[in-house]
Amino acid sequence: MSSFKKQIPEFKKLIDYHLKIVLSESDQSSEALCQAMGYSVMNGGKRIRPMMMLASAIAMDIDTKDVIPFAIAIELLHSFSLIHDDLPCMDDDSLRRGQPTTHIKFGEATATLAADSLQSLAFELMAKAEFPESKSSQLELISMIANSIGSEGMAGGQSLDLDSENKKLDPLSVENIYMLKTGKLLQASILGPTYFKDLDEEKFSALQSFSESIGVAFQIQDDLIEAEGDANTIGKSVESDKSKNKAAYPILFGINESRKRVDNLYESACASLKVFGKSSSSLMDMAEIIIHRKL
Ligand code: IPE
Ligand code: IPE
Ligand code: MG
Ligand code: MG
Repeated sequence: MSSFKKQIPEFKKLIDYHLKIVLSESDQSSEALCQAMGYSVMNGGKRIRPMMMLASAIAMDIDTKDVIPFAIAIELLHSFSLIHDDLPCMDDDSLRRGQPTTHIKFGEATATLAADSLQSLAFELMAKAEFPESKSSQLELISMIANSIGSEGMAGGQSLDLDSENKKLDPLSVENIYMLKTGKLLQASILGPTYFKDLDEEKFSALQSFSESIGVAFQIQDDLIEAEGDANTIGKSVESDKSKNKAAYPILFGINESRKRVDNLYESACASLKVFGKSSSSLMDMAEIIIHRKL
């Protein structure tokens, strides 16, 4: 087993530890709100995005301690996106990570406010973080992360996703939605460490290509897991896409095509990392985890 793979359980513990601290330090003015925030974050997420940021920092030979606040912030942003994604006005799902979704447990109003608060906490954390580089690099990093979840990123993709129901989109249009709704935040995790260190052009564009391929592969794999799994194992509904006739890759193009596309994107992702030589192994490991995961 590679040394990064061996360290994964430890990294996951570290991420969970920091998430817990950050949540416990946030204002306790409303008990219901704080409980909903904690419930949505501390309930068994795989922590793929923060782990990806650590893997990218390692590939760039950056101290992982420096990127922790940003990795944590990205996980908070991911949790906020999931609360919204599950709401009745969006995917209307009642199960996430094997438990009732936040709005089922706490009601829609508290769930919405918990998502708002997680977003705000993420930005507070990033603004307050000690940064080893210039303040302007820190601002650029925060701005890049903000962009990845807004109308040019996750929110834009989620809007197109909702609009795609009952439509027969072509593969490129589906991949564009995936790139925005899921890929952009994953890309932000991978590119985040580039704000900590000057990286030559070749390596930067290698990371960019890697992040683009793996971002889309992540979402097709997510859809495959839903199409092939059972709710008990995957901890979420297996009818979510089908019942709403979503423009999901397996629904539109079949399981085999979807699997082929994931493999193909994985190969392109790994090929883009050649310029990093051996130091790309942490990112390669994460790419493999993403495409082979069953949850
Ligand atoms: C699920 O993401 C939602 C998507 C963006 C596809 P994850 O599979 O990373 O979810 P958790 O955090 O591990 O539950
Ligand atoms: C989730 O996509 C994307 C975001 C939360 C931004 P899906 O709706 O396909 O993910 P799951 O299957 O509910 O986790
Ligand atoms: Mg959705
Ligand atoms: Mg969903």
